[in-house]
This record gives sequence, C-alpha cells and structure tokens, in this order.
Amino acid sequence: MHIIFLNPQGNFDTADSHWTQHPDFGGQLVYVKETALAMAAQGHRIDIVTRRIVDPAWPQFSSEFDSYDGHPNVRIVRIACGGDAFLAKEELWPYLVREWVPNIEAFYRGEGRLPDGTTTHYGDGGLAGALLEARTGVPFTFTGHSLGAQKLDKLLGDKPPDDASLAPLEERFHFAQRLAGERLAMNRAGKVITSTREERFEQYGHPAYRAAVDPDDDRKFSVIPPGVNLAVFDATSRNDREQATADFLETVIARDISADRRGLPIILLSSRVDHKKNHIALLRAFAGHPELQAMANVGIVVRGADNALQQRSRFSGEARELLDQMAALCDEAGLWGKVTAFPLEGQAELAAAYRYLTGRHSLFCLPAFHEPFGLAPLEAMAAGLPAVVTKNGGPSESLYENGASFGVLIDPADPDDIARGVSQVLESPQAWQRYSEAGRGRVLARYTWDRTAAGYAAVLEEIIARGPGDQTGQRLPIPPYFRQPDPANDFTTADLAAIYTGRM
Ligand code: F6P
Repeated sequence: MHIIFLNPQGNFDTADSHWTQHPDFGGQLVYVKETALAMAAQGHRIDIVTRRIVDPAWPQFSSEFDSYDGHPNVRIVRIACGGDAFLAKEELWPYLVREWVPNIEAFYRGEGRLPDGTTTHYGDGGLAGALLEARTGVPFTFTGHSLGAQKLDKLLGDKPPDDASLAPLEERFHFAQRLAGERLAMNRAGKVITSTREERFEQYGHPAYRAAVDPDDDRKFSVIPPGVNLAVFDATSRNDREQATADFLETVIARDISADRRGLPIILLSSRVDHKKNHIALLRAFAGHPELQAMANVGIVVRGADNALQQRSRFSGEARELLDQMAALCDEAGLWGKVTAFPLEGQAELAAAYRYLTGRHSLFCLPAFHEPFGLAPLEAMAAGLPAVVTKNGGPSESLYENGASFGVLIDPADPDDIARGVSQVLESPQAWQRYSEAGRGRVLARYTWDRTAAGYAAVLEEIIARGPGDQTGQRLPIPPYFRQPDPANDFTTADLAAIYTGRM
C-alpha cells in the first residue's frame, strides 16, 4: 500500500530535531516515526506529510522532501500551510482548510496517483484527513493521541463551562476549532485507533463527542498499542553509556546506602517528580513495612541534581514540595541509608540503568494515581525488571490478560497494597525470575513497533477494501468554518459550550 501519515504539528527530520524540547515535538512524533518506519519495513510505501517551515529559527524544515537514513520506502513530505514561519499547533486550523489539504491533493495529483489510504494524528491531522477524504475519497484512520475535551476538563477544573471560564481558554487554545475538528475526524474516519480499551470507552465517551462517535461501535474502533524501542531498552541491547551508568549507580549506592545493605535489590521509581506519579506512596509503604526494608532499598530518579533529596533548594514549586515531603518521611521513619536519589539523562542511561538493576534483581515501581498508557513500565520490563505498577489505566491491560499476570498491579491509594505487590516479587529468587521473564516476554510478544505497524496495516487494508461511502452511524456535515475559515464563520464561545456539553 501507499499510505500517508498526516501530522501537521511539530515536524520531522533525520536528526529528530527539537524532540521533547517543544510541546509540539512530543511522544506523538516518536509514535508516528516508529510506526511509519516499521510499516515501510513490512513492504509499504510511506509518506509522513507535515508542514513546510522556511524560518531561520527552524532551519531543519525548509526543504520539500527529507528522508531517514536506511529507510528508502519512507519520505518526509513538507507541504506549505500558513506561510513560512513556525506556527504552534493551536494556530494551524484555518490554514489546514485553506491551504494544507488542497496543497496535499494537488501534490499527489501532480505525482499522478492518490495514496491508497491515510492515517491521521491528533485533531489537526484528523481534520485534514476528513477534508481530504471529502475531496478525494481516500479513506483514513484517526489516532487522537490527546483529545481536546479531556484537556479542557483539566483546564476548567471545578469551574462551570460558561462564557467567563471558556472565553480566555478559547482565545489561547482555539478549543472550539479543535473539538469540532476532532468530531469530524472521528465521525468520518474508517477506524479510530486507540492505545487502550480505557481510552476508547472513557475518552471517546465524553459528551463533547456525542453523536460524532459511538464508543460501543466495534466496527469503528481498533485498539492498537504503541511499541517499546527494543534497540534501546531490550535486555540484550547495549549502548555507549552502559558501563559509565553502571559505575555511576555503584557510586550513588556507596554514597547513600549503608554499608551492610549495599547488596540488596533496588525498588526503582523512575518518573517525573509530579504529584500524579505519587512517589510518596511507595516511601510510605516502605516506612510502614520493616519486612520490605529488610528485602530492598529504594532508588528515585530525579533529574536536575546529583542528590535531589539532599539538594532540595535547587528545586522549586511542586518538585520542591514533593522532595521536602519525601525527605521529611525519611527523617521520621529513619529511612536514610536505605533510600538514594540520583539523576539519569536520556534514554540510553535509563536503559543501561534498567539493565544494571536487572543484574541486581531489582524491580520497577510506578504507584501513579492513573497512567493513561504506561510506556515506562513496559520499557523497564523489556530490560528484564519486574514491574509493580498502578492498577488504574493502561497497565491494567498491559500487565494482565485473561488470568495471566505479567507484573503486579497495585492500588496506588493503599500503601499496604503497594508493600504487598513489592513483596510478591521480592519474596524469593524464583518469584523475581518468573516476573522478570513474564514481563519481558509480554513486551516482546505484544508491545513492539512491528506489531503496531501490522495493526495499522490490517486496519488500513480493511477500510480500503470497504470502499468509499461505507460509514457507521450518521455522517456529520462539515461545519461552515471548515468549508470557509472566515471570521464570519468562526465558532463562538457559545458554540464551544454547546459542543463541550454535548448539545451540538
Ligand atoms: O506528544 C504527545 C502529545 O500527547 C501529543 O499528542 C500532543 O502534541 C501533545 O502531547 C498534547 O497536546 P495537547 O496538550 O494539546 O492535548
């Protein structure tokens, strides 16, 4: 198949420029690139279609075409949309309608052939896919990545969705355009692709998407999880930070852990220091269960200081508050000598640390209140670390299936349950070995980009075979703004309130 990936926000180049350093260059770009490369390796012709940016501050994105070394079946195609300058994703909407979609159609007609199918990413890509399908009949899939309704839920908090609360958010984020674009995309997509069942039922079940999509419609949805980068994280991989990272961990263990405890395994917490990740719950479990203290030490990865628990003045805001709480608990419960904090930079050091700690029969713990997908535990599992992870969210699907456990699920609100989960892995060498093998086996069998790509290819084959006009549910009309994006047609705050509350 000749498949195009529509991803207007951010951009793509051989060097993966700006990844993780700008909000429009986040995990979505990794997902699109890895899926595209894996589909191409399976024999498909792939174009990643994005915006052309001719801006001295963004020099990597000015040529019309680009490629990835060693992947001749993949083109990066940059198509003009909204002038030369870099634009944040929130500003793209009118230009997608006016320029990007007509330019994409003209580009492929100029090449003499339209693509067989399109996969679209985020609401902006989704809107473009729906408009392209309306013009050409090329069917498309929609992957939301992050949906506007849930972002608006978070930004509104307890405030009612009225003019006063919505107007400033609309001005900054253009939520009406986003929600209307997402509605059109999910309604007209041949398939909506989610990473988990929870994403399908919870996120697409929001009132804002009422009458656009039915989360119970099996023909409409396909759950295709993303993959772990095995070249980086697999137990058998090695990188140029391998030995230095192992040496570094030995140094911090010698620095922070009492001499008589240095041979014990480490319970590793490796996530952003953020209230949601709930680091303190593991420390409470550790403090409240002396039998756990007899089995292991705790290691906390914190970037920004050599020893974050001792250098808390280097932090501010939420991170400072959480580090203060952790240090206070160490004081109260006498945990110094059993807890260490240290930084790891980048994926190479993280993967090397996972492998080093696997050699020490350690485990990975994530007591987050909720984890939408949970890629980090899967990366640790690929390296061989058993995972003890929140039962809320994606891990409930990735660590457990049909009675088989590939790690231990815990209740993040209950320190006793966290202690139970950790003990279950550390109670015997056999138990540790069983979870280590089961966890890695699960990742290799299910969470690889090859599988993600095969899932996309199967879905695209299905919607291409169905042909045009095959639509489940009622086809939504294209809103006037997406036919003619003039100010006179623009959505109002009242429209946003109506869409958000399911009255549209
Ligand atoms: O890259 C990960 C991601 O979730 C993207 O899908 C998106 O670009 C961004 O982060 C979140 O966007 P938003 O805050 O607009 O929902």
